[in-house]
Amino acid sequence: MPHYAGTIVSKLPRVGTTIFTVMSRLAAEHGAINLSQGFPDFDCAPELRALVTRYFNAGLNQYPPMAGVPVLREAVAEKAESLYGTAYDVEHEVTIVPGATYGIYTAIAAMVRPGDEVILLEPAYDSYAPGVEVHGGIPVYVQLTYPDYAIPWDAVQRAIGPRTRMIIVNTPNNPTASVFSAEDLRMLEGLLAGTDIVVVADEVYEHIVFDGHAHQSVARFPGLAERSFVVSSFGKTYHVTGWKMGYVLAPRELMAEFRKVHQFNVFVTNGPLQYALADYMKDRDAYLGLAAFYQRKRDFFVSALEGSRWRPLPSRGTFFQNLCYDAISDERDTDLAVRLTREKGVASIPVSVFYREPPQHKVLRFCFAKSEATLAKGAEILSRI
Ligand SMILES: Cc1ncc(COP(=O)(O)O)c(C=O)c1O
Repeated sequence: MPHYAGTIVSKLPRVGTTIFTVMSRLAAEHGAINLSQGFPDFDCAPELRALVTRYFNAGLNQYPPMAGVPVLREAVAEKAESLYGTAYDVEHEVTIVPGATYGIYTAIAAMVRPGDEVILLEPAYDSYAPGVEVHGGIPVYVQLTYPDYAIPWDAVQRAIGPRTRMIIVNTPNNPTASVFSAEDLRMLEGLLAGTDIVVVADEVYEHIVFDGHAHQSVARFPGLAERSFVVSSFGKTYHVTGWKMGYVLAPRELMAEFRKVHQFNVFVTNGPLQYALADYMKDRDAYLGLAAFYQRKRDFFVSALEGSRWRPLPSRGTFFQNLCYDAISDERDTDLAVRLTREKGVASIPVSVFYREPPQHKVLRFCFAKSEATLAKGAEILSRI
């Protein structure tokens, strides 16, 4: 293959391969237990697979409607209304998308112009900043406090200026496993009142909130719902991360702009999977029972580490458990994560990679969306360190 001889001024000069790919690859190379990337090592429900097979065989294999099949949009709108009390119009305010990452990216593409500022709370999921920068936007970072990962609202207020176009929030939060409280969202609602700032609310872990707490969606707060793209992922909810299926909710004015971009990008999302998900969503227990399912895994993993030198930080939601290793090593988290994978056979994610200017916290993120056998093996190795 001849090489390209022209000049490339990269639009994303700082972007390399994501840490998830790097760590999963390293885990595979060394035969390590992979507690790094956030995906289950168990399959989805057989009922869901059967529905998919049925719909693939039902002659529904041509382009579905651009916004998503009506039955799935209806199911999503009904769920949002019953859980968060906000009625989204099925025709204009719900769009089915190929994954939450795409939904977030499309919302940024639709809203952010060159020179616009977008506030990101760090540590931040790694797709946000590149999504902003590729559209000429400028990420403005506010760091969550450590070790409780609370939101410093005074710093958020200081970060808001005349060029602020958007704030991206993520609750339950990857990688910190913290969640927003109702008070947090009221603070945000108050700060944004009277501005044109829009919110992208990454709520892919909406059904994984622990210890009896309710998920605080921006959709519950009228002053936020009116300016928010709420993004969720079927991948996280139904153990099908490889399907890349999600949805976006937004008031019609925002959704109209979103769809202008969506229409000329992917245009439509996989049809048979949408029909299958619409049927499967009738079983409310499948998503309402998810928090208890993952809480058991969290508790299993944490109790298997009892007596070890790893210090668990609170995991209030998501399927991640952060472990502080300040009693074990002075190494940087990136070095330790690689060494643990190579030498001990257990892979994790260093939390510093979610920061633009990483603080020297000694924290690794472990994914507990794994079978108990895998978690037990991982915890046994860690306990010996
Ligand atoms: C916070 C957050 N947002 C978005 C995503 C991506 O979701 P999807 O696979 O539906 O694009 C993930 C996946 O790990 C995530 O943790």
